[in-house]
Formats: sequence, structure tokens, C-alpha cells
Amino acid sequence: MTSIKLNSRSLKSLLAIVSLAGTFLAGCDSLPGRPTQAELPLRPSNVTDFATLYGENCAGCHGADGKSGAAIAMNNPVYLAIIDDASMRRVIANGSPGTAMPPFAQSAGGPLTDRQIDLLMRGIRKSWTGAPGAAEGAPPYFSSTAGDSSRGAQVYATSCQSCHGPDGRGGSAGSIEDASYLSLISNQYLRTIVIAGRPDIGHPDWKHDVSGQPLTPEQVSDVVAWLASKRPPPPLAQSN
Ligand code: HEC
Ligand code: HEC
Repeated sequence: MTSIKLNSRSLKSLLAIVSLAGTFLAGCDSLPGRPTQAELPLRPSNVTDFATLYGENCAGCHGADGKSGAAIAMNNPVYLAIIDDASMRRVIANGSPGTAMPPFAQSAGGPLTDRQIDLLMRGIRKSWTGAPGAAEGAPPYFSSTAGDSSRGAQVYATSCQSCHGPDGRGGSAGSIEDASYLSLISNQYLRTIVIAGRPDIGHPDWKHDVSGQPLTPEQVSDVVAWLASKRPPPPLAQSN
């Protein structure tokens, strides 16, 4: 525990949602104050209203009104411009293995029908897509080539250190090199955050880390590789 830096807002938020995910998986019906099945106006699988679907399934981690939650905002025009429907559907349906993002499709053991996932995706895009061109010139969402972590250290020094401090250990913004934080998120998620930013909590998108110097696709991959190199190795396979 002593290695956990409590000045890291990112880490604290993620630890909070990990415990939320536990509650989520344990079954929402047992939460105090939840209406019983009989009191619910509709069976959960019949809910078709976007605000209700989003509020009950996503807002706890991604924030009310799609922003300022512990996990990335859905209310982020750059994000919505770089992610394609198939990728968004895959992560909502199947979750992101090894992280707090749970699977939502009934086929993956989650609570939502395919139609409800369609309605959620449509609602997210309709409510929060920005003006055309929000992500013009942005690096692609996916990269199939791994970055180079020593070049990434340079990218970090130029583009991130002014806020996150030397070696990612925290400055005016929180620590991002913390092993506990990094072991709760995927490399794709780091990439998404570096490109799309978290304008809701003050982390810039790829274009605004340093004024007039947008990150190139290679620089994004390199800085992600550098952060990933700080993640501890996975624990040895469990015997059970
Ligand atoms: C202008 C200041 C600023 C710059 C430059 C900046 N960040 Fe951030 N970043 C923040 C703030 C503020 C947060 C919000 C949380 C906090 O305070 O730790 C944040 C959060 C993050 C998070 C956690 C997001 C989450 O939701 O889990 C990551 C990862 C991150 N930054 C990586 C980077 C990387 C990599 C760079 C350089 C490419 C960078 N940041 C540049 C200010 C900045
Ligand atoms: C218990 C917390 C939790 C809940 C509930 C949750 N998410 Fe997530 N979500 C996360 C985390 C954490 C990540 C980052 C996963 C990773 O590191 O790959 C994430 C990632 C995502 C991503 C992919 C981000 C990227 O990198 O492109 C999408 C899309 C998403 N969530 C949508 C949703 C939607 C829609 C809902 C509701 C149906 C939802 N999430 C509910 C925690 C949650």
C-alpha cells in the first residue's frame, strides 16, 4: 500500500470505480434503495429511453451528462469522431478485459439486449457529437505498430512533463506512472486519452499539450509505450 500515491487523482478515481464494478457485478438489485422488480415500471430489458439506459448503466463511471466521471467522457466530440461504431460496440458489448469496464451484452453475461446497446450508441452520438472537423488531423484510434518507449520518454518530457511532473510522478496534474493505476487500464485506453483528451478534467487532447505542436501518430504510440513500460508485469497465473 505504501507505493500508492494518494496525490494521484486518476488512481483514486479508478480505485473507486473498481469497487463500483464489484457492486455492479454483485448485482444491482441488492443495492439499498433500489426499487424491487415489482416496483419497476418496465422490465430492465424493455427500457428504451436513452437517458435511463445511460443513467443506470454508464453514468456511475463515465459521469452524469457523459462527463466528469472517473472513466473517459462519452461527451467528448474528439472521442466520438475518432472511434468507429464497430469498436465502440465491441467494448460496450464485451467490456475491456482486465479493467473495470464490464461487459454489457447479454451474450457476454451482461444486462443489455443488442437493441439496447444500439440505442445507447445512437443516443451517445446524437447527444454529444460536436461540430464536423472536431478531430481533423487526429492520429487514428488504433495503431497496429507498437511504439518505442525510449522515444516516448522524450515525447513525455516535451509534451506532458509540464503538468504531470518529472517521470510522470505528478506535478500540477496527478501522477500517471503509478503501477496501481496503470495495471487497471489498457494500452488502448491510454492511447484514447492521449488523443481525445479529457477536457472535462483538464487534460488536453493531442493537439493542445504544447501549443502549436500537435502529437504525430508515432509520438502517440511512443508515449503510450513509455507509460506501458511502467506497468508491473502481470501476476503469475493463479492455480485455481
Ligand atoms: C496542461 C496540463 C496537462 C498536460 C500537458 C497533460 N496532461 Fe494529462 N492530465 C492533466 C490533468 C489536469 C488530468 C486530470 C487528473 C489529474 O489531475 O491527475 C490529466 C489526466 C491524465 C491521465 C489520466 C486520465 C484518466 O482519466 O485516467 C493520463 C493517462 C494523462 N493525463 C496522460 C498524459 C500524457 C501522456 C500527456 C502528454 C502526452 C499529458 N497527460 C499531458 C493535465 C495535463
Ligand atoms: C464500473 C465502471 C464502468 C461502467 C459501469 C461503465 N464503464 Fe465504460 N469504461 C470503464 C473503464 C475503466 C474503461 C477503460 C477500460 C480500459 O482501460 O480499456 C471504460 C471504457 C469504455 C469505452 C472505451 C474507451 C476507449 O478507449 O475507446 C467505452 C466506449 C465505454 N467504456 C462505454 C461505456 C458505456 C456505454 C457504459 C454503459 C453501458 C459503460 N462504459 C459503463 C468503466 C466503466
